[in-house]
Amino acid sequence: MQIRFAASRPAGDYALVLPVAGKDRSSLASLGTTQQAVGAALDRQRFEGDASSVSEQFIDDNGTARRLLVVGTGNGVSANEKAEKLGGTAAGRLLTSGEKTAVIDVSGLELDADAAARAGLAAALRSWRYDRYRTKLKDNQKPTLEEVVIVGGPANAGKRYEQRWAPVYEGVALTRELVTEPANIIYPETFVERVKKSLQGTGVEIEVLDRAAMEKLGMGALLGVAQGSIREARLMILRWNGASKDGQPTAFVGKGVTFDTGGISIKPAAGMEAMKWDMGGAGAVAGALKALALRKARANIVGICGLVENMPGGGAQRPGDVVTTMSGQTVEVINTDAEGRLVLADAVTYVQRNYKPSTIVDLATLTGAILISLGHEWAGLFSNNDELAGELIKVGSDSGDKLWRMPLAEPFDRLIDSPIADMKNVGPREGGSITAAQFIQRFIENGVRWAHVDMAGKAWADKASATYDKGATGFGLRLLDEYVADALES
Ligand code: BES
Ligand code: MN
Ligand code: ZN
Repeated sequence: MQIRFAASRPAGDYALVLPVAGKDRSSLASLGTTQQAVGAALDRQRFEGDASSVSEQFIDDNGTARRLLVVGTGNGVSANEKAEKLGGTAAGRLLTSGEKTAVIDVSGLELDADAAARAGLAAALRSWRYDRYRTKLKDNQKPTLEEVVIVGGPANAGKRYEQRWAPVYEGVALTRELVTEPANIIYPETFVERVKKSLQGTGVEIEVLDRAAMEKLGMGALLGVAQGSIREARLMILRWNGASKDGQPTAFVGKGVTFDTGGISIKPAAGMEAMKWDMGGAGAVAGALKALALRKARANIVGICGLVENMPGGGAQRPGDVVTTMSGQTVEVINTDAEGRLVLADAVTYVQRNYKPSTIVDLATLTGAILISLGHEWAGLFSNNDELAGELIKVGSDSGDKLWRMPLAEPFDRLIDSPIADMKNVGPREGGSITAAQFIQRFIENGVRWAHVDMAGKAWADKASATYDKGATGFGLRLLDEYVADALES
């Protein structure tokens, strides 16, 4: 999708998109004499300008029929949110409509350059799709929209888009591709290959540990998860050094379980295909590093992807096995389906030992229990630091990757004590997301600020939104990107 910015509407064929904020239809004034007829049509359609509501009609534009989309932006949301809803909703509606060009006239909204640029970002994000395996799409199912032109924004909106948001789109596209690919295509080794290829020329330094290297480091927890699979585990380390050499980096750590059968504690068959996206945290970390590098973020970031496939089999770990983690602490594996925390335990130890980060943010599709707590709207946030938690909640709300803080406390920690080892990998059913977070916290060293994002309800969507279609959302990337922009760069 081409995203362009222009001062005025182009000549020729295009669909015109006009925003309307609630009942105030003053933005339709630019239609001139057609305004009356359009207004009457809106009345007949009972269009009230609510956020994301759409009226579609054809108007007579100097003798040619032009498709007009009136998109409601609602009232009472921020300009950024309005702009993103507008751009995304319009692109979603027009993607396969037969139109090649959409012209979104934002002059009625009086957006600043950033907000106008975000309309373009949302249009790009909403247009993303992955048709690689669809060989029989009918012509009228194929996308037709080729360009979206944002008209009437400030003169520097285009520059803002290129510098700040085009990189974010590129990152999200990588994340969504990794999340969408099935597990026979993307497994630890191919995840690494795909990311390496995608990051070529960006300046991100990449290091990869194979099984032998991880064995040497004593990563018994991560390797224990991988041992039932014929796919070898990998630890992928991505470095972006955009700030001065000295100073501790910030670490982003992602759960990358390329398929989660549950292992010997096998999951029920129904819906198991969803577990191809159990690498959504690692996908977001890889995408974030791409975005940060493309926009030359002035920050030192290390991204870690813990990549394994969790399978049952003759070589798989058993419930009751005791594994020794890289930290030296031992874990009794009560349930082989609580594998994400085992992967993260060694991944966070590795990053602390090797990079001494001041702050760690981990992203993981970690527990079904977080879906019970928060549904599909918010991801769960756990942190040992109030300031970090506050920053993340703020950038979460600004970026649309919303977070809701959950508690951590000593009584929950006691629930994962084990009679045979230092800890067990599951607590009781109640508070399942919290005990999972407590488990990771046992691997966070003194003085390190740490936050854990349980995004099990967010990596994949069953219904479309303004910025994504059904399927992979890219959740987490914009959160990390905005955190860097807000807390590290300024
Ligand atoms: N990957 C799953 C969590 C998950 C569940 C993500 C549903 C997305 C949707 C995770 O590895 C898992 O299996 N967790 C178990 C933990 C339990 C065994 C303590 C769960 O949530 O059931
Ligand atoms: Mn699992
Ligand atoms: Zn899992």
